[in-house]
Amino acid sequence: MGHTVEIRDSDLLEILKRKSEPYLSRIDTSIKKEMELYRHSKLYGPILYALEGGKRVRPTILMVAAESVGSDIGDTDLAAVAVELLHTESIIHDDVIDEAASRREKVAFHIKYGYGAAMLTADYVFGMILDIASKYSDSRVSRELSVASLRMCEGEYLELRVDPKSYSMNWDEYVEIISKKTASLFQTAARLGSIIGGGSEEEIEALSSYGLNLGIAFQIQDDVLDWGSEGKIAEALARKRSPEAVLERMKEMAESYSIKAKESLNAVKSGPAKDLLVLLADFTIIRDY
Ligand code: IPE
Ligand code: MG
Repeated sequence: MGHTVEIRDSDLLEILKRKSEPYLSRIDTSIKKEMELYRHSKLYGPILYALEGGKRVRPTILMVAAESVGSDIGDTDLAAVAVELLHTESIIHDDVIDEAASRREKVAFHIKYGYGAAMLTADYVFGMILDIASKYSDSRVSRELSVASLRMCEGEYLELRVDPKSYSMNWDEYVEIISKKTASLFQTAARLGSIIGGGSEEEIEALSSYGLNLGIAFQIQDDVLDWGSEGKIAEALARKRSPEAVLERMKEMAESYSIKAKESLNAVKSGPAKDLLVLLADFTIIRDY
């Protein structure tokens, strides 16, 4: 009674799996339903392939954010699909840019379907997102999706322009790139959830900061996990430092952004949804996949 029990990482993962299961199943149902609208398209199969196998972190954040400010998940299903679609089209392009051969332990989209199909499918998916946005009368929904899309491209473009052979990247530049290319969509997911859930300005800003910090932590952890295989940024960061020092600093940064994400939730009411957001911030830096 009253003593604190340290939760092991493996237990934390089990708890998270159990608590996120209802969201994941709801997200998959919503994705299937939306995809039905495109069943007769020639791009149906390729889009299903691109959607298969993701962790669905962003739509989960969106739904839980809505619950954390409202009484239920509300009308978040379509917006949740939209953020997963935006993530999906961005990784199709990202794998082309990075010349990646695989993704999610499968053949990369452009290897399987070709470069032309990769460009067209990502554009098509963008059209699907616009269609979803048009179904929300609140114009903040399409604006948020637009902001994320613009920022993600800005971030990818900044990274594209880095020549690791001559460029020494500092930590501020690293955080700027990952804030834009990755964290912007986490931020939009959290903002959309709180907007659709009917959150106050204060709650929307709190969740916005949660999403941004969580997204930064998430990408740093991604870079830690890819250490040794992911080239460019790691190389540019390691020009003036030893690779060991870079890796060590990244782990510290991931932890501190995860803590910042949790602190951002101070303005959000206590309850199971907030608890799950905290758990997601913990998961972000202990995940190994
Ligand atoms: C991978 O994102 C690409 C990044 C922006 C870090 P995720 O780790 O969310 O990818 P999936 O959807 O679960 O495969
Ligand atoms: Mg990349």
